[in-house]
Amino acid sequence: MRVTTTVNGTEQSVDDVWPGESLLFLLRERLGLPGSKNACEQGECGSCTVYLDGEPVCSCLVAAGQAIGRDVVTVEGLAGGQALHPVQEAFVEAGAVQCGFCTPGLVVAAHDLLARVPSPSDLEIREALAGNLCRCTGYEKILDAVRLAATKQVQP
Ligand code: FES
Ligand code: FES
Repeated sequence: MRVTTTVNGTEQSVDDVWPGESLLFLLRERLGLPGSKNACEQGECGSCTVYLDGEPVCSCLVAAGQAIGRDVVTVEGLAGGQALHPVQEAFVEAGAVQCGFCTPGLVVAAHDLLARVPSPSDLEIREALAGNLCRCTGYEKILDAVRLAATKQVQP
């Protein structure tokens, strides 16, 4: 099957896609976008989070064919060229990255939260990130990063 979809603003066509193939596999293995991570492949950890038509989804749970004709934005697409997005900068500055496996999904989730709620409460931050698991940081630095990103008055 041929999959034609827009990824980070560019239309991409991929041939010979297996009907059961995930969007995550398509992005990582066929389109060379390794930012979205494959940690559980069961929709449990959030490390594979991308935007699909503006909504955050676990790309491991989305069939590649479901992305046909739709708009996908990955963590790579948030940065402006070589410049980090302010949410990405905040994660670095707050020390919220250890092994980094969870980070791309958390960055997308935080980006989505701040686009909807520019000055979130701690409860809103915790709720927004509830689907993203981190094995390293204990979450405090991640919460700091989102608070810092909010103060940067992030423009989505
Ligand atoms: S890899 Fe998709 S939710 Fe864990
Ligand atoms: S930094 Fe390692 S899983 Fe979060």
